[in-house]
Amino acid sequence: EKGGYEHFMLKEIHEQPNAVKTTITPRIVNGMPDLSECGLTLEALKNYRKLFIVACGTAMHAGMVGKYVIEKLARTEVTVDIASEFRYRDPIITPEDLVIVVSQSGETADTKAALHLAHDKGAKVLSVVNVKGSSIARESDMVLYTHAGPEISVASTKAFSVQMSVMYLLAFEMAYAKGHIDENECKRLTAKLAEIPDIIEKTMECEKKCKYVSSKLITAQSLLYIGRGLDYALSMEGSLKLKEISYIHSESYAAGELKHGTISLVEDGMPVIGVATQTELLEKTVSNIVEVKSRGAFTIAVCKEGTEFSEGVIDEAIEVPAMEDVLMPMLTVIPLQLIAYYTTVLKGLNVDKPRNLAKSVTVE
Ligand code: F6R
Repeated sequence: EKGGYEHFMLKEIHEQPNAVKTTITPRIVNGMPDLSECGLTLEALKNYRKLFIVACGTAMHAGMVGKYVIEKLARTEVTVDIASEFRYRDPIITPEDLVIVVSQSGETADTKAALHLAHDKGAKVLSVVNVKGSSIARESDMVLYTHAGPEISVASTKAFSVQMSVMYLLAFEMAYAKGHIDENECKRLTAKLAEIPDIIEKTMECEKKCKYVSSKLITAQSLLYIGRGLDYALSMEGSLKLKEISYIHSESYAAGELKHGTISLVEDGMPVIGVATQTELLEKTVSNIVEVKSRGAFTIAVCKEGTEFSEGVIDEAIEVPAMEDVLMPMLTVIPLQLIAYYTTVLKGLNVDKPRNLAKSVTVE
């Protein structure tokens, strides 16, 4: 049942190329994204005033990627919320807005409550759900199913990748509907996304290096993940994955925010993982890595192939193939998942079933 892999998590990490391919292929028609299956028209996409993306945990991190990409390309305001906060903060939602809920299981209590709240305010709800016929799918106005297949490991991996892939299709289509990109550019971006499954496969070549780096993390008391922009969203996901299965405390920080408090935690030997794939932000993030290095941190960079760092700044670099910046999260997540996996395995813990956690959180 584990298809020759030692754990479900590793199997599911390796299923990502196929999961993404199965999710996006039917939604690319004549080279353009096509989400009309759920009733989402170009006209509607053009007219939404504002989007809200609401989810929990890893699904919320996919939402953070969605916000960044939609705002950048479609120039539409997007708010991302943790469902348990959204439902109690009296958000300003109108019938002109679209609320997008993201959930692997489709049964998460807080996410479901967010959907009900959106309906109470008269907004339409689009859900991005993996489990067919789940409550959230049934109660939404529109559903875009992700096709990851069953995810058994408690730590979510392939569900995250397919959720992001849907966010990209949505961003590209919306950017086109709003006239911010022309048909050629929309086709170019969509073609890049379609190449992603093969490039994820290639990214798996970093597995050995990730295992090696993990061997250096098993004795850590605590570590930091830092990044900017899309790399910050991925830092959050990397940190969550590591802590939930390896029980090593970690925090993710927007790199520029470090000097407002957190950097005082850094002492000799503390591992800091710098996620640094975004070209425009590279220099800024590197300067933050230099700051922690000079305070004794053990520095690990997750970066594009061929990224050069000054002597002595990075102890270990994990390279992933270089792609369009906006699509890098689809690749960056691979080493982050593998580090969480191998650190946990090397500590001898139960990777697929961490303590205190359930696969589906159906109570508040
Ligand atoms: C982390 C993880 C959780 C889920 C969260 C939402 O690895 O699995 O953070 O992402 O509980 O679950 P769904 O997507 O089922 O709503």
